[in-house]
Amino acid sequence: MITNTELEYKGNLYPNTIVDFYRDTDKLYFTTSNGVILEITILRDSIIRFRYATENIFEPDFSYAISEDVSLGYNELEVNETPTEYLVETAKLRLLVDKKTMRTQISDLDGKIINEDELGFHWEENYEHGGNTVKMSKITQSAESFYGMGDKATHSNLKGKRVSNWVTDQYAYGKDQDPLYKAIPFFIGLHNNKSYGIFFDNSFRTYFDFAHERRNITSFWADGGEMNYYFIYGPQMDQVVKSYTNLTGTPELPPMWAMGYHQSKWSYYPESNVREIAANFRKLRIPCDALYLDIDYMDGFRCFTWDKSRFPDPKKMISDLEDDGFKTVVMIDPGIKIDKDYWVYQEAVENDYFCKRADGPYMKGKVWPGECNFPDFTNPQVREWWAELYKEMMSETGVHAVWNDMNEPAVMEVPTKTAPLDTRHDYDGHPCSHRKAHNIYGMQMVRATYDGIKKYVYPKRPFVITRAAFAGTQRFASTWTGDNVATWEHLWIANVQAQRMCMSGYSFVGSDIGGFAEQPNGELFARWIQLGVFHPFCRVHSSGDHGDQEPWSFDNEVTDIVRKFIEIRYQLLPYLYTMFYRYSKDGIPMLKSLVHYDQEDHQTHFRTDEFIFGEQILICPVQEPNAQGRRMYIPRGTWYNYWTDEVVSGGMEKWVVASLDKIPFFVKEGAIIPKYPIQQYVGELDIEELQLDVYYKNGVETSTVYEDAQDGYDYKKGRYSLRNFNFKGKEKELVINQFKDGSFITSYKTFRLNFHGLPFKMKKIQVDNETVDLKDVKLNGSNNIQISKDFTVLHIIGA
Ligand code: GLC
Repeated sequence: MITNTELEYKGNLYPNTIVDFYRDTDKLYFTTSNGVILEITILRDSIIRFRYATENIFEPDFSYAISEDVSLGYNELEVNETPTEYLVETAKLRLLVDKKTMRTQISDLDGKIINEDELGFHWEENYEHGGNTVKMSKITQSAESFYGMGDKATHSNLKGKRVSNWVTDQYAYGKDQDPLYKAIPFFIGLHNNKSYGIFFDNSFRTYFDFAHERRNITSFWADGGEMNYYFIYGPQMDQVVKSYTNLTGTPELPPMWAMGYHQSKWSYYPESNVREIAANFRKLRIPCDALYLDIDYMDGFRCFTWDKSRFPDPKKMISDLEDDGFKTVVMIDPGIKIDKDYWVYQEAVENDYFCKRADGPYMKGKVWPGECNFPDFTNPQVREWWAELYKEMMSETGVHAVWNDMNEPAVMEVPTKTAPLDTRHDYDGHPCSHRKAHNIYGMQMVRATYDGIKKYVYPKRPFVITRAAFAGTQRFASTWTGDNVATWEHLWIANVQAQRMCMSGYSFVGSDIGGFAEQPNGELFARWIQLGVFHPFCRVHSSGDHGDQEPWSFDNEVTDIVRKFIEIRYQLLPYLYTMFYRYSKDGIPMLKSLVHYDQEDHQTHFRTDEFIFGEQILICPVQEPNAQGRRMYIPRGTWYNYWTDEVVSGGMEKWVVASLDKIPFFVKEGAIIPKYPIQQYVGELDIEELQLDVYYKNGVETSTVYEDAQDGYDYKKGRYSLRNFNFKGKEKELVINQFKDGSFITSYKTFRLNFHGLPFKMKKIQVDNETVDLKDVKLNGSNNIQISKDFTVLHIIGA
């Protein structure tokens, strides 16, 4: 046990005896004789916020991360006192606060310890900057594992690692390199089959040590601000992730085209090149919904301008592309070129919108256009101005969506790669230095962008992409994992990062498919596409200086494989869209790591490669050259091999065949997977038939299909269609009940049901209790029927 004297000796200060306690409805205040106040807020029975003040003073309570829509409310809160501790109880948790040390311990109602302080809160005064380095240390429970933390390019289980959060432009980052582009100070702990989460809501540089420095200790600390964290109890990881996601928010539904395949490069120009790329997609019949214009469309890299020699008539080009089913997405960076003749620069100077250094001059840094100044996006007026800058681009020129890059902010030719730390920020009326604002700068930029795009694409839905992010940025934008490299190792990294981001509340994520830096060979590109079509955001992007990276840039075999997988994505659009709906509405992540899927199965705790796409599909990428398959872990349950319909039982590792034109792909038994016909872009076809792939199970399973107008806001007025299919299979019989919600009328009149693994021949079919002549239902073989009715009950009796 470390004594208080030793701590003081190391420069740490710590709370001493609690001398005062009071309760103010959902808040409890404990004060020590040396002026530490612990404020405990009960948000829900399983979500408790801890906040510590030193010298009796809290900072103003302000957070960019927490969503306005967070749901609050608990059933029970009781506080009792013993001679040595305070005992706080909710309907789910029991919390002890030690009177002598202010250390806390949280258990479930069975008395099982979930999380407990070691030293608990302690701090060091920061004489250079003022304020404190605030620290927390906890006891690592036996066999505890750790997950989450945003985009860390390291093994999914963080046990034994130390990571930090400081959003950084990390060109061509390596495995285990840290920090990267995102700062999401949220982790999940799992031990004794119970999960909890801790969200440290502090925007300074933060550090997390998961039993790395000391074997049984997990700690986290920040360079400033307050010790302010949310404890979230499961016990299921699913519950932890949902609660964290609810706390920091989810995006509204994007337009469905945002879930299509997107093609990007640094850069497609001039206009003829863009048109050529578009034409090639259509000619080769490779579905594609969006083309991206990187920085070279601008006039000398000045945001909100066009290089008229390369793009003489952007409006016409964008509208022609739109006629052909392509949306145009353009890049906007935060650095504004210092140029007295440039209107954006002029407006910012006139209104005093740029960030300033401590002694008053504008903060200056080099980016693509040369020397730039940087708008202070933490000032609400600046955000409003920034949002308005998009007006002409969106409503006049017709641009569909915007991509915000370099918003860490990235600064070139300086060792820190970013703004000087003395740079001042408004922080929404809580003025501070860049030490505090750095991690949220990009988030506030993309928030302003989102507001502008949302306003100017109305009545359509906005689609925005960001590179930098802090916790909560998912409310405004999708994201990609930055400047990766065309290597097999990076394919592994992309997979881990996407899963980790989903676990960290940020589902709308993808990687630069094929790699940004360097050139993939055809095999790597094909394998990466196979993974990328199962990521929520699916875009090929590359630096362009090593050769082309379009689906046809390799050989015909690769082009065919790429087409086949993009087609699968387009067939699965209703499934993917439903995944997004579930994410947006209930915070259910779009990808689940196996540990998230089945935490009771300890085999899953160290798995990295396999993941669940949505809720019923299992995917595992092939991540090495010359492979004809791979070993993978099949989670517990029964699964159908998508390619062969072979049924496999999980709970073990298996060799799975996957030649270059296949990826290990399984469907959960009982699942009903909705599919659309292949389209070259979203909305190309009026969907005339909904295909339902039914994977027979002797038992029950529920599947959901969400649909709406695919864009616009009518769905908010109830014009959506939510079909819940309850599947019930027996030895010689199956029943599918359909419950429909919402007033949207789907365009199709028929359902095509494809039965997989049906153990019997159909003898009799009843639709809504009426027997249908087998000929009427167009029985095709024994496993494919068409029903021309929005049925409520389908009953099939076997021979
Ligand atoms: C950054 C981005 C990359 C982009 C490039 C040029 O490196 O991460 O995606 O292509 O800048 O704008």
